[in-house]
Amino acid sequence: MARANLARPVALGLVLLFLAAEKTDAALFHETMQDHFDGSNDARWQQEYFVNDTFWKGPESGAPIFVCVGGEGPPLDESVTSASVHCNDAVEWLSETGALFFALQHRYYGCQSNSSACPVAYPIESVRDMRFLSSRQALQDLALFHDHMAKAYALTPANRWITFGGSYPGVLAGFARAKFPHLFFAAVSSSSPIFSRLEMPGYYNYVSRAFMEESVGGSKACRDKIALGHARIGDIFAANETAALRKLEAKFSLSSDSLDSLDARRDFAGVGVADFPAQANDPTCTSPCCNIARICETMLDADAHADPIDALAAVCTEFGFLQTCDKGSECMFTQGLVTLDYMFSSSCAVYDFDDIKRTAAAIDRSNTIYGGYHIDTPRILWIGGTVDPWLALSVQYLTREQVRAGQRMLLVKGASHHAWTHPTRDDDQQTVVDARTYLRHVLAGWLREGTQATAQA
Ligand SMILES: *[C@@H]1O[C@H](CO)[C@@H](O)[C@H](O)[C@H]1NC(C)=O
Ligand SMILES: *[C@@H]1O[C@H](CO)[C@@H](O)[C@H](O)[C@H]1NC(C)=O
Ligand SMILES: *[C@@H]1O[C@H](CO)[C@@H](O)[C@H](O)[C@H]1NC(C)=O
Repeated sequence: MARANLARPVALGLVLLFLAAEKTDAALFHETMQDHFDGSNDARWQQEYFVNDTFWKGPESGAPIFVCVGGEGPPLDESVTSASVHCNDAVEWLSETGALFFALQHRYYGCQSNSSACPVAYPIESVRDMRFLSSRQALQDLALFHDHMAKAYALTPANRWITFGGSYPGVLAGFARAKFPHLFFAAVSSSSPIFSRLEMPGYYNYVSRAFMEESVGGSKACRDKIALGHARIGDIFAANETAALRKLEAKFSLSSDSLDSLDARRDFAGVGVADFPAQANDPTCTSPCCNIARICETMLDADAHADPIDALAAVCTEFGFLQTCDKGSECMFTQGLVTLDYMFSSSCAVYDFDDIKRTAAAIDRSNTIYGGYHIDTPRILWIGGTVDPWLALSVQYLTREQVRAGQRMLLVKGASHHAWTHPTRDDDQQTVVDARTYLRHVLAGWLREGTQATAQA
C-alpha cells in the first residue's frame, strides 16, 4: 500500500492556528510532523485537539494551562473538555484556576476517529506504517503542540503548563515533564504503569519461552533470531563504534547520535526493541506483528530480512508496554499497556485478574532485585489506587532524591484505576474525593512557588 502524501500547505496550518483562538469545544487541528526525528522527512499531518476556554482568564492573568494527554483507546472526542475519563481532575478545576484546557489526541488513536487526522494512511496495513508509533514521537507531538498553542494564544512563561493523564497517557504525562521540563511545569501522572519499562530479565525468560511455543506459531528458530538480533545490538553498543551506531539508529528510524548514552540504550533495548506480546498472545488478531505467529513470520522472512537486526527493525514499534486483548470482550494483561492490536481494538474493559496478579508478582520480584527506573524531575505527582491491578507497575514509593526534588506521591485507598480522574459522582468514595483535594493542594502549592521564583528572578 502506498503511503499517502500527508504534507499540507503551511497556510492551512496557520488558518487552523487562527481558528484555535475561537471559543469552541469541537475538534480542532494543528499541523505536526510525521517524523520528528528525521530532518529529511517533511511530511505533515493534522493532529486533533480539543479546548475548554470557558473559564480562561487570558495570558496576562498568569493562569495555568492544563493539557490532557491522549494515548489510550477509545480516541478522545469533544466530551473530553467537560467529562473526561482521564483528565476530569483538570477539567473540574478550571473555574477555580481560570486555566485554559487542552486535550491532545494521540497520533495513532486519532486515526480511528478521523482517518485523515493520522500520520499515515488509514487503515494501517503494513508494519512500515507503524514506525511512527512511539512514545518518543508522542512526546515530541506534545512539545510541538505547546509551541503552536503558545503562539496561537499569545501565552507567556507565566502561563505554566501542567500535563495530566491516567494509565498509559499518565506515563506520557510524567515523561513529558521529565523530558521537557522547560515546557511543562508539572505533571499529574495517575495510575501510570511506568515500571513496565524496566529491564526485567525474568520477564525476558518468560517471553523467550513463549516465542518458542509452537502451538502459537513460535519456534526455536524464531526465538533464536530475536535473541541473535538483540545480541548483535548489544555487540554494537559494546564496541561503541560510530559508523555502526549511526547505521543502527537509521535502521530503527532514530535520530543520529540518539544511541550514544547508556540511558538511551537502556531505553531503546531495555525491554526489547519491539513489542513482543507473550502471555496474552491473541492468535486471531489481524494487524501486523500483533501476535507471536505474525512476529515470527516477519522475523523468519529470510528474503526480506536475512539480517536479524533488520528483522527486529521490521517488527519494532518501540513500546515497552505489552497488553493484548482477546477477540471477544475480555482483555488479558501481560506486562504492560499497549500493543498494536490494542491500539485498534475497542473492547478492553474486563481484565483477567489472576493473570494480572501473577504478572504483577513477577514484575515486583524483578524490580526488587534489579532496582527501579526513577525520574527525579521536580514537580511530578504520582497517584495510584490500591485496588488497581496496575498499581504493581506504578510508582508506589519515592526515592529520597525524588522527595528532595519535590515529587509527590499519593496512594488512594480502595480506589480503582485512576478513579479520581473520572467525572465526579455523588457516590464517589471519600478517598477519591480526598485525592482530588490533595491534587489541587499540591498543584496550587507548586504554582505559588513558581510564581514567587519568577518574581524573585
Ligand atoms: C469546561 O469545563 C467546565 C467544567 O469545569 C464545563 O462546565 C464546561 O462546559 C466546559 N466547557 C467546554 C467548552 O467544554
Ligand atoms: C478530519 O481531519 C481533517 C484534518 O486532517 C479535518 O480537516 C476534518 O474536518 C476532520 N473531519 C472531521 C469530521 O472532524
Ligand atoms: C561511546 O563513545 C563516545 C565517544 O566516542 C562516548 O562519548 C560515549 O559515552 C560512549 N558511550 C558509552 C555508552 O560508553
